[in-house]
Amino acid sequence: MEIRGDTGVLGIFGHPVSHSLSPLMQNAALEACGLNMVYLAFDVDREELCNAVRAIRALKLIGVNVTIPHKEGVIKYLDEVVGDALICGSVNTILNDKGRLRGFSTDGEGYVRSLAEEGVDLEGKRVLVLGAGGAAKGIVLAILKRRPRSITISNRTPERAEDLLKRFEGMERVKMEAIPFDHEALAGVMKRTDLLINTTPLGMEGREPLRLPLHHLPEGAVVSDIVYKPVKTPLLKEAEGLGYKTIDGVGMLVEQGAMSFEIWTGIRPPKGLMRDVVIKALSELDT
Ligand SMILES: NC(=O)c1ccc[n+]([C@@H]2O[C@H](COP(=O)([O-])OP(=O)(O)OC[C@H]3O[C@@H](n4cnc5c(N)ncnc54)[C@H](OP(=O)(O)O)[C@@H]3O)[C@@H](O)[C@H]2O)c1
Repeated sequence: MEIRGDTGVLGIFGHPVSHSLSPLMQNAALEACGLNMVYLAFDVDREELCNAVRAIRALKLIGVNVTIPHKEGVIKYLDEVVGDALICGSVNTILNDKGRLRGFSTDGEGYVRSLAEEGVDLEGKRVLVLGAGGAAKGIVLAILKRRPRSITISNRTPERAEDLLKRFEGMERVKMEAIPFDHEALAGVMKRTDLLINTTPLGMEGREPLRLPLHHLPEGAVVSDIVYKPVKTPLLKEAEGLGYKTIDGVGMLVEQGAMSFEIWTGIRPPKGLMRDVVIKALSELDT
């Protein structure tokens, strides 16, 4: 990639951000598409977020991704927030539209697309979501739009699961409920679950694994984990051992990034290449 005087700049705002795989993934896609753009990571402290957002306009950046801890805080500095981002109160993509800063969220939709890529159709499905944080919010909204039969949420802090339910209550007429985050309650629901999704950080490198009574799931159930470091979490390994189909978190990372790429450039990026780059980087971290 040759950086010239007219090279367009994209990036990601987060803190910390040096571990982000987005620069690798997005630069590989930009290069493959022959675009004269570069994607950089910017470590933005909370108290500097307003200035960093102003800099998008001042420096004529094309756009940025936004990650932890700024997805909610960034909203007040934008000119417009659209679609899922508005409903969820969370932005992961900013487009500099001729000086007008527009906020989008591609997290939930990216997740659902990662399921579709694996041939999982959500219509009529009974879904169990573990966790009720930022990622869960976007994922639940995107799933709701695909008309599942039911969505059950189980979270360590029950009030947060209830808040999530209230936010989407009555939408799409899907049956929704919250249950305690304990094995007894989970086992009961797992017997009638078609898709189980982990949106907690349990199972991530350096964190304790998520232990669940997976054998209660019916035959043909799908187990999905949005944690992608490691790619095969202990949960996915166990599910695979029991014969369930599994879906890793790399798919969501790639799909949300591909959607951001399209918002900025109007071009569909090569998702296979993006996935390969991420998998290679993650495997190098393992060794
Ligand atoms: N694949 C992708 O592209 C992608 C995208 C976004 C996020 N992620 C991953 O998804 C995970 C969650 O991200 P997030 O932004 O939603 O985080 P978040 O807003 O902090 O939410 C974390 C959720 O996990 C629960 N949790 C945390 N520690 C727990 C524990 N020890 N036991 C049980 N529950 C626990 C929290 O429960 P409480 O409410 O009780 O605190 C909360 O519901 C992270 O690992 C992140 O890396 C992946």
